[in-house]
Amino acid sequence: MSATTRRLGEAPPPGLLEPIERAPAAELRGLQRERLAWSLRHAYENVPHYRRAFDHAGVTPADFRDLPDLARFPFIAKADLRANYPFGMFAVPEEKVARIHASSGTTGKPTVVGYTKEDIDTWAALVARSIRAAGGRPGMKVHVAYGYGLFTGGLGAHYGAEAMGCTVIPVSGGMTERQVQLIEDFRPDIIMVTPSYMLALLDAFRKQGKDPRRTSLRIGIFGAEPWTEAMRAEIEQAFDLHAVDIYGLSEVMGPGVANECVETKDGLHVWEDHFYPEVVDPETGTPLPEGEKGELVFTSLTKQAMPVIRYRTRDLTRLLPGTARPGFRRMEKITGRSDDMIILRGVNVFPSQVEEQILRVRALSPHYQLVLTKDGPLDCMTVLVESDYGATGAERETAVRELEHHVKEMIGVSVTVEVRDPGAVERSLGKAQRVVDRRAPKGTPS
Ligand code: DLL
Repeated sequence: MSATTRRLGEAPPPGLLEPIERAPAAELRGLQRERLAWSLRHAYENVPHYRRAFDHAGVTPADFRDLPDLARFPFIAKADLRANYPFGMFAVPEEKVARIHASSGTTGKPTVVGYTKEDIDTWAALVARSIRAAGGRPGMKVHVAYGYGLFTGGLGAHYGAEAMGCTVIPVSGGMTERQVQLIEDFRPDIIMVTPSYMLALLDAFRKQGKDPRRTSLRIGIFGAEPWTEAMRAEIEQAFDLHAVDIYGLSEVMGPGVANECVETKDGLHVWEDHFYPEVVDPETGTPLPEGEKGELVFTSLTKQAMPVIRYRTRDLTRLLPGTARPGFRRMEKITGRSDDMIILRGVNVFPSQVEEQILRVRALSPHYQLVLTKDGPLDCMTVLVESDYGATGAERETAVRELEHHVKEMIGVSVTVEVRDPGAVERSLGKAQRVVDRRAPKGTPS
């Protein structure tokens, strides 16, 4: 079982919420119907890929009458965006595109996305809504340590914080030592950063002999990669702040597609007035009922420059009824992507499961990488993990035995644990690389 959250934050006064955040579900469904009909038409009429795909599936936008009809329309996936590189999925003339972002292309061409001026305004409003859900208020200072550039994290957070009426400190990733100084001197209330980079900042605080619990930070808005409840507890305890989850992906918009509410910290409310979520069986593509785990799929309802119809995210989660914002459904905290899953001698393992076990062992810090190798025909996994500052040799040895035991007991696989000195496991400036696959022979694309 993962650790529970330490404490909950205060709900915003109802007057601060947008009317749609307080609207009954029936009103939201009506709006979605109307907007979906528009979005399907917009995609079909302006993007050759959608026209071909709908024609091939024998559907037209006129076949959409109610929400369940969406299931008749074909999916799109990252490969479709790559095949239309760079601007083939745009539904407006290029001169109407106000901004381009792209996801990193580690395995080929990057995926390119575009926004009109209005899309940028919608995005900023949704990130502002997310910051408010996390406990942010106008007048607060926000330290943005997500990377700026083609990645949507930095600029997405930046425009949202401005739209919220906050003071933005656009630090971007990197210069870790200096970030500590800036946090001390500028006294931000909120930090927006990947959870793994927050841990790198934690190290830097400790190295400089500074108490991370004494900063001005009250709220951390963490996302762009999976992180567990155990990691939440660790970060909240270390910095004495509220750690809240933000989700998004460039293909659908960027950060701010869904966000946790600080008063419940129970999964992320999907901003359903702009994105229609489905969870489908990853094998068959059949939509699953609420509460069942599968692959998350999104359809944009208002995007102009690059509508997405039934985009398969590969993220695994389940949909749940709304709580703090009862009209919107929640998605459970994402524990992994279908392409992060490691199959180790027949057992499915997600890095987040190993993370939970690492956080149970006292002498270890949650900087880790999973290294996959081959021993003859057998796949092997080594967990590289750092010890805490000040752990003795004997404590480190006990930690190795404890972690190997927990992983075997809780996940069902045998692994080798190697405990390294603090700082010895590779750090990222943004998203952490959790899996290093050394199984493929050299020259074979992974
Ligand atoms: O990571 C957008 C973002 C920036 C989200 C800053 C939150 C904060 P991409 O680079 O396109 O966009 O990567 C999207 O990252 O499909 C998930 O697999 C993963 N991801 C994003 N947020 C979370 C989260 C940005 N809160 C991919 N929990 C997504 C788990 C997340 N995974």
